[in-house]
Amino acid sequence: MNGKRSADPRVIVALDFPDGQTATEFVRRLRPGSCRLKVGKELFTREGPGLVKALVEQGHDVFLDLKFHDIPNTVARACEAAAALGVWMINVHASGGSRMMSAAREALEGCGPQRPLLIAVTVLTSMADRDLEELGIRDGAEAQVRRLAGLARDAGLDGVVCSAREAAMLRAQSGSGFTLVTPGIRPQGAALDDQARVLTPAEAIRQGSDYLVMGRPITQSEDPAGVLASINRELVTVT
Ligand code: C5P
Repeated sequence: MNGKRSADPRVIVALDFPDGQTATEFVRRLRPGSCRLKVGKELFTREGPGLVKALVEQGHDVFLDLKFHDIPNTVARACEAAAALGVWMINVHASGGSRMMSAAREALEGCGPQRPLLIAVTVLTSMADRDLEELGIRDGAEAQVRRLAGLARDAGLDGVVCSAREAAMLRAQSGSGFTLVTPGIRPQGAALDDQARVLTPAEAIRQGSDYLVMGRPITQSEDPAGVLASINRELVTVT
């Protein structure tokens, strides 16, 4: 499996840019070994697979964050198509159920050892307990996160996206081989933007996160390579 490579940068920079040109100009300022890159729905829908392939060809590890959720066969074929782009990580919604996740996992078997990591989204952090209640889930977000992370692990997925505040609980539940990817990270003293509850990179790793998704503290900086270098220096002292 792709998994952690020798350089194994922990930071995944969220390329939340309105168009491919801005994203490409930004990426030119980064060294591939210093971080990984996340392409989400907005950028992918505007620019398509060409941008993803170009980033992969430049030597970047790409997390294609499209959160597939559909019938098992459709998700399996979509995962195959994503893997064919050469990306490092892809994801699906765990609420699509065990059969959907197993189909996704099986679809990647054909990729051999270079298959992308396959992770699941449990409960979107935008969902509060009352939003879940509307959906008939009455025992709260934490119970639902635990349940869906368990299903993802049992279906053979490599890990989940979770809040850094859930990382310790999920690490205890799922053991050391389960990959935890966490957004909501801010270096000490950085602007919170619209994130309400944040952890610093070092705190998140201490809580059990493997990879940190970070956008604005890096993308909006005058010196993105410098911010990354300083985070990577801080993380060397933790890991
Ligand atoms: O700029 P910032 O560091 O807040 O960006 C975080 C990235 O992680 C964004 O791409 C955002 O959509 C994503 N994300 C998040 N919270 C989640 C899931 C994803 O902030 N629960």
